[in-house]
Amino acid sequence: MKNPTGNVVAHLRRCAVLVFMVQLLFIVVGAGSESIMRQQACTDFQSASFLRGTTLKVQFLLFPSSNPSCGQLLSIHEDIQNSSFNASLGTKIIIHGFRALGTKPSWMDGLIKALLQAAQANVIAVDWVHGATAAYHTAVGNVMKLGLEISSFIQKLLTMGVPQTSIHLIGVSLGAHVGGLVGHFYEGQLGRITGLDPAGPKYTRASREERLDPGDALFVEAIHTDADNFGIRIPVGHIDYYVNGGRDQPGCPRFISSGYNYLICDHMRAVHFYISALSDSCPMMAFPCSSYKNFLAGHCLDCFNPFLVSCPTIGLLDNGGVNMEKLPTEVKVYLATAASAPYCVYHSLVEFHLQKRRTLDTNIEIIFLSSNSSFSTSIIIPMHQTTGRGLLTHSDPLCQMESLTLQYRPKSWMRNKDEAPVVGQFCTALLPVDTSEKMFCLSQLLTLTQENPLLHSLPIVCD
Ligand SMILES: *[C@@H]1O[C@H](CO)[C@@H](O)[C@H](O)[C@H]1NC(C)=O
Ligand SMILES: *[C@@H]1O[C@H](CO)[C@@H](O)[C@H](O)[C@H]1NC(C)=O
Ligand SMILES: *[C@@H]1O[C@H](CO)[C@@H](O)[C@H](O)[C@H]1NC(C)=O
Repeated sequence: MKNPTGNVVAHLRRCAVLVFMVQLLFIVVGAGSESIMRQQACTDFQSASFLRGTTLKVQFLLFPSSNPSCGQLLSIHEDIQNSSFNASLGTKIIIHGFRALGTKPSWMDGLIKALLQAAQANVIAVDWVHGATAAYHTAVGNVMKLGLEISSFIQKLLTMGVPQTSIHLIGVSLGAHVGGLVGHFYEGQLGRITGLDPAGPKYTRASREERLDPGDALFVEAIHTDADNFGIRIPVGHIDYYVNGGRDQPGCPRFISSGYNYLICDHMRAVHFYISALSDSCPMMAFPCSSYKNFLAGHCLDCFNPFLVSCPTIGLLDNGGVNMEKLPTEVKVYLATAASAPYCVYHSLVEFHLQKRRTLDTNIEIIFLSSNSSFSTSIIIPMHQTTGRGLLTHSDPLCQMESLTLQYRPKSWMRNKDEAPVVGQFCTALLPVDTSEKMFCLSQLLTLTQENPLLHSLPIVCD
């Protein structure tokens, strides 16, 4: 009895597998009966009060592309063939998480519509609002049973000839770990699991069997947006996107006075980033790096290590757009976003090369100007070095930048002591920077002063 919790978990798992097998038998035996009426009426999500919401009740709702706001109730005991389910298309199954207020998630309709627009697929939402409410730990207590119900439902799809690889689970928060359990029942042979800020509390130290991990599907990806609070800190997929560093999101309130939105804004951003990526306004491409700080400092500019040439991109591309025979696991990749939708931004490397080394750190502010917006960053050229670099993120493409300004910004205590101008060359390139040929450099030397920003045109043509 060294590890009593471990024993209980192991016992629960054995029971669960047994229940699962009994359910499978039931489905296989029942598969022949075709006694089901087509569900004509639309079915909405359940709502649960705190008092009666603790027992698990699951609904599988299919949302057809012809009428994306009308859920068709699919029953595990009924004939799915008589619904709009199309077995020759892929299937996307959305699993929500803990529902503090016992209501349908506000992002659900948006995610369903975005998926239906981005892919020809069966989009199914698992409604377990009944069972996901009351206290977080009661919701966690329902996770195993829910995982079994979803596994049985998938088994029913497989008996209709749906390939395992065409199944894509999209789990939000706690729902991501439910997806992991389901994937584990299928021994990692389902096509894909996307975890949208997989839950942290009770899961950070859980075993791989209990939480989402790269063994749960052929491709597992996670988008992390609240790793310091409701989200999980550790990587759980083949590719783990730490958006804006994975902790605090731009545009989210920083003060408790903002109420509920303050509590869940960072956590829920993962869903909104995913919806934005599905709508394809610009690619949400990410870059492997040892930390977000190093990424912003311009130290990680391409995806060669470990992805060879391709960079992972949030959305529906196979394997996140990474083109490799065997995917590496638990790779942390980083990207920045804007504060509001569409969140995606372009990442450009900006560099300044001094003509002469200086005996102190040199801070330079760089602003890109498009016809209607400006985007800025600061870079530091460390003392005794010649090059300073950093990332500048912008929501309009690089080739739409008309000009830029550069200004020498000495620390306040230096302002009167260092009046010598800073002379050097400016270069930029859109990430990923694979070859030096892609660098664009202004041909003449620039002379920067602390008094006025230097304005220069940025003649990069769109190709
Ligand atoms: C399928 O649904 C239609 C109504 O939409 C019904 O007439 C038919 O009997 C159903 N078939 C089966 C096998 O359930
Ligand atoms: C199912 O999807 C396939 C592929 O898009 C399509 O050719 C077929 O017509 C669809 N079947 C039904 C019944 O809609
Ligand atoms: C700026 O202009 C471009 C095209 O001229 C447009 O696509 C973009 O939405 C505009 N951005 C803002 C913030 O108004």
